[in-house]
Amino acid sequence: MTVRALRQAGAEVQVVLTASASQFVTATSLQAVSGNPVRSDLWDPAAEASMGHIELARWADAVLIAPATANTMALLATGQAPDLLTTLYLATDAPVFIAPAMNQAMWLHPATQRNRQQLQQDGVEFFGPGAGEQACGDIGPGRMLEPAELAEALQTALATATQRTTSVSPSLAGKRVMITAGPTQEAIDPVRYISNHSSGKQGYALAAAAKAAGATVTLVSGPVALDCPQGVERIAVTSAAEMHQAVQQRVAQTDIFIGVAAVADYRPADVATQKIKKVDGAGQGDKPARDPSGLQLNLVENPDIIAAVAKSPTRPFVVGFAAETHNTLGFARDKRVRKQLDMILVNDVSDKSIGFGSDSNAITVIWADGELALPSQPKDLLAIELITQIAERYAAELATTNLQPAVN
Ligand code: C5P
Repeated sequence: MTVRALRQAGAEVQVVLTASASQFVTATSLQAVSGNPVRSDLWDPAAEASMGHIELARWADAVLIAPATANTMALLATGQAPDLLTTLYLATDAPVFIAPAMNQAMWLHPATQRNRQQLQQDGVEFFGPGAGEQACGDIGPGRMLEPAELAEALQTALATATQRTTSVSPSLAGKRVMITAGPTQEAIDPVRYISNHSSGKQGYALAAAAKAAGATVTLVSGPVALDCPQGVERIAVTSAAEMHQAVQQRVAQTDIFIGVAAVADYRPADVATQKIKKVDGAGQGDKPARDPSGLQLNLVENPDIIAAVAKSPTRPFVVGFAAETHNTLGFARDKRVRKQLDMILVNDVSDKSIGFGSDSNAITVIWADGELALPSQPKDLLAIELITQIAERYAAELATTNLQPAVN
């Protein structure tokens, strides 16, 4: 169980048992594995005498609610506190993590999703749920993550939080950072497009880290399934042309530009105004015969967004990104010089455990007179190191060259 996994990872654990949890597990067994008395009642005079509920809320370095039901999520999202757990949630300053466990229809219900969104906005982090076959026979999302996964996720989240508050230096307070992230979609016709596998995770993690370092952050994002980091302004775009325009409009007010977007290099020369129909066989009536050479798409080159930023008269400090499958460092060094970038961050996307879509990444940072290889780690931890590197190089550049401060 999760309590055991946490203790094995070295944590001290105090268990709060809700009324519904006590239908599944006894206080006695939880007391045995946690090594501490189990609390379940807000008004238990004996328990309150040894550690009052406010004291308990202050004692924790982290609060993990696992499993969390739809009802608990609803109570927390609306600030209701009818029992000990919900009261602790309101009283604690510690980061709160929720591992939902419920039927897939309950998880997917708009009310539960509204509550999830509200809780995320309030700073709660979710672990899972996982998808698969459920106790009720349904298949879908709603399964609580395995105890070992929860213990690991909690350790990573706490390490990230500690690093975030201690290691983002030098500060970017007062600096304006613009980041492009995600893929672009290039329309072929009203229903189809050309795109790529970028998830946006690394760009979003960099936006969160830059914000944590004190910067004012604008995230120009292609279509992704990610929530905007707290306190970051997001400009949603679809195509490379839209991204280019959004960036150009803001470049004069930017101190540091980080291009992480996987911009489509080409777009269809003409976008069909109606859905392109498949042509079958020899052709009949108004249908033309099938062209044996297949459908030809004429592509034209997209603007190079980052190269245009690097050439702009009010040039900010420019950081690019390179995803390569071979000759990784060689291509990246060339790209930095060719696009006139101050720095380039490069990752090897031939390794499926890192890069596109995955939660981890390993990146080498390259600048004019140095290189630094950062080992594989969760993208949000890596982002903190990357922002630290960028802030250091930016400060050095400001001190020695003629970087122009952004205008208001
Ligand atoms: O040339 P390549 O696409 O590999 O270069 C990657 C870098 O250039 C990334 O920083 C990416 O965001 C940026 N880029 C861009 N506009 C393009 C193509 C790439 O800003 N059209």
